[in-house]
Amino acid sequence: MLEFDQIYHQDCIAGMPQMLDNCIDLIVTDPPFAIDFKAVRGNYNRKASRVLEGYNEITKADYSGFTVSWLEQAWRILKPTGSMYVFSGWNNLKDILVALDEIGFITINHIIWKYQFGVVTRRKYVSSHYHCLYVCKDDKLRPFYPFSRYQKDDRDSAGRSQHYRDKEDVWTIKREYWAGDQKTPTKLPRELIEKILNYSSIPGDLVCDPFLGSGQVAFISRLMQRRYIGFEINKEYYDFAKARLDSGQYRLKTTDQGNPF
Ligand SMILES: C[S@@+](CC[C@H](N)C(=O)[O-])C[C@H]1O[C@@H](n2cnc3c(N)ncnc32)[C@H](O)[C@@H]1O
Repeated sequence: MLEFDQIYHQDCIAGMPQMLDNCIDLIVTDPPFAIDFKAVRGNYNRKASRVLEGYNEITKADYSGFTVSWLEQAWRILKPTGSMYVFSGWNNLKDILVALDEIGFITINHIIWKYQFGVVTRRKYVSSHYHCLYVCKDDKLRPFYPFSRYQKDDRDSAGRSQHYRDKEDVWTIKREYWAGDQKTPTKLPRELIEKILNYSSIPGDLVCDPFLGSGQVAFISRLMQRRYIGFEINKEYYDFAKARLDSGQYRLKTTDQGNPF
């Protein structure tokens, strides 16, 4: 049986079946996109030596079956009170929406994460958002902590209600550029994960990320006194996430030799 407050170098479709039924409070995850990610890596404008290689991509043809496989496990490990946030680009969003529906998840919100981006396009609009599907097993049982970030009467300098604005379903949050440090190409910003953890969990809750990448969800869960578990199939990414968790350092410096893993 797998332990909590650990991450595993494993395919989550093999790892999740080793977890008990109904054990997780919250899943926050950002699965691979099936968009031949390597082909667009140049867009990220980063020095290749600092960007960890080996992102594990899924082919378009396999994406629907892959999505059903991990979502069935997500359903099984979530408590009846559990909720889940799944990030997706627009390309294969329909596979995720269909699978969520067929497995029985209830969609609560379809959140848009608007980020800043620097890729100018000439023949199409610039993509500057992700979808984040907030779903649950039972809408009556799921917890939500509406005043975890702003109190009812908090106002901004223009007199607008802060708790209302914070709970609108378009979130404008900047990506983090870790200049000079080790990084993976697709990490989620800390502010985004903190917001989700604040609204949908409390200290002591169990948070799972089946697709850890740089380990952001596990790292921030621990910072916020949640318990965590997760999987990453790529050894280099797993080692990076583990080194961050073991050292407690949010950002790791590149050594003179380049990639330390
Ligand atoms: C979009 S990234 C996640 C980024 C992460 N949210 C972060 O903040 O760094 C998806 C990750 O899933 C990993 N992955 C792909 N297939 C996997 C599988 N079957 N099991 C576990 N990890 C997998 C990829 O190697 C990649 O690191």
